[in-house]
Amino acid sequence: MSFLKEIQRRRTFGIISHPDAGKTTLTEKLLLFGGAIQEAGAVKSNKIKKGATSDFMEIERQRGISVATSVLAFEYDGVKINILDTPGHKDFAEDTFRTLTAVDSVIVVIDVAKGVEEQTEKLVEVCRMRHIPMIVFINKMDREGKDAFDLLDEVEQKLGLSVTPLSFPIGMGYDFKGIYNIWEKNINLFSGDSRKDIEETIEISDLDSPELTKLIGEKSAKTLREEIELVEGIYPPFDKDAYLNGQLQPVFFGSALNNFGVRELLDCFVEIAPKPRPKQSEERLVKPEEDKFSGFVFKIHANMDPNHRDRLAFVKIVSGTFERNKPYLHVRHGKKLKFSSPNAFFAEKKEIVDISYPGDIVGLHDTGNFKIGDTLTEGEVINYKGVPSFSPEHFRYINNADPLKSKQLFKGIDQLMDEGVAQLFTLELNGRKVIGTVGALQYEVIQYRLEHEYGAKCTYENLNVYKACWVDPKDSKTEEYKDFIRVKQRFLAKDKQNQLVFLADSHFSLEMTQQKYPSLKFHFTSEF
Ligand code: G4P
Repeated sequence: MSFLKEIQRRRTFGIISHPDAGKTTLTEKLLLFGGAIQEAGAVKSNKIKKGATSDFMEIERQRGISVATSVLAFEYDGVKINILDTPGHKDFAEDTFRTLTAVDSVIVVIDVAKGVEEQTEKLVEVCRMRHIPMIVFINKMDREGKDAFDLLDEVEQKLGLSVTPLSFPIGMGYDFKGIYNIWEKNINLFSGDSRKDIEETIEISDLDSPELTKLIGEKSAKTLREEIELVEGIYPPFDKDAYLNGQLQPVFFGSALNNFGVRELLDCFVEIAPKPRPKQSEERLVKPEEDKFSGFVFKIHANMDPNHRDRLAFVKIVSGTFERNKPYLHVRHGKKLKFSSPNAFFAEKKEIVDISYPGDIVGLHDTGNFKIGDTLTEGEVINYKGVPSFSPEHFRYINNADPLKSKQLFKGIDQLMDEGVAQLFTLELNGRKVIGTVGALQYEVIQYRLEHEYGAKCTYENLNVYKACWVDPKDSKTEEYKDFIRVKQRFLAKDKQNQLVFLADSHFSLEMTQQKYPSLKFHFTSEF
């Protein structure tokens, strides 16, 4: 197959949701359709079970599973589909944010009873800011939930989206009869037996036909006709360009568990979802069709075997082909590296591959060369943008608990930070090290891994910080900036890239500081 055809047939996306909405179940059903797995239950949930916060075995289990499900690839209808895993647990939100820099589109799963939840809001906001095309899947229609129109309103208001339903439920919960597929103009009736349903798609070109009444009964048919009329009156018709630009989000209804509405979602996805998209680098816009390879690291996973301390760096291919044993430029280090065993990912396994295409993810074995955001090219110096750090939510001093192992401790901290487990800040005043994380869970992960992988021991000490703000002075020669540096010295630190960070101890003090130094800008992300 030609290079261009390979690009055109790729769809790389992520499924985002609040935990429990049905992401794992939907992923599994998609893989079943692709014939990539034979039975349900094959995809392990990467969820951290409730109450497992201090359970190290659970953390390790989670790490093991998440490498297995980091990328799930399968073929459907001649299309190569790459699903990138996005942890739903809020303590791993940063992981998900970074993965979103590597997807070309997303599917948002919402629980029909719970509606829009907190984690969905945060993740969708990131996608919206990046104009990532989104399809919404309202799940668990077999349960009693919110009214479809109310839910569509909620999605528009809470998520700031502009939706148009491409399918519509006939009843719900106990009364759930099936789905009218606006996109394909047919009806799927629910009988509880999923396989049968798929064969029982009934074409309905005209909703007024008496056949509809025969199928679902007079009352339901009347309601459906009214509802579809309302849908057509309220919502704009589907427009593929608007979807691709992130201005319009099609909505599907279904039940992942019962495999209902999933085939419709997949068929539409394959048809409308974008092929690999061009990506902006600091230097220029890079197109997938370019013949020279380039890609970037969006995730690093430590090996499960503590004796080997080798890691897997996940690289999204942006342009050209990635070939085994060919030397590529590690732009940040300015040196060429060759990879003898790049991994490609399939449904449940990874395999060494000779060649990969734009949209694909390759896993490269690494002994500490990579950090998140690194770019690889065939020789050109380009740096991909868009893997920013966000202000952590928790801050603690990290202390060395075994003075004989300080070298191991620093190496361990350094590598864990490159993996993106947490962020390190060094105080300007006294050089003390502060670890910032999104969730409290990471402190235990760090402590555990430092001990088991690096033989180092650490303790933590609380530190009262509200937010880390990256300081943008505009002009570092002004008296105002110098005054800020002098007065706020106690609250200043450097991040790992040596960027200046203001550790504000409260919302109030941040506001006061902003007022006092109006020419300085304070950012909650490291890229501005
Ligand atoms: P997540 O990855 O988004 O966290 O959700 P996951 O797929 O694990 O689904 C969460 C729970 O919701 C699971 O039940 C799952 O079986 C159920 N579920 C998913 N889709 C549907 C659906 O369409 N209808 C109904 N009624 N339930 C659905 P659980 O009891 O928490 O887990 P399990 O023990 O069944 O695996």
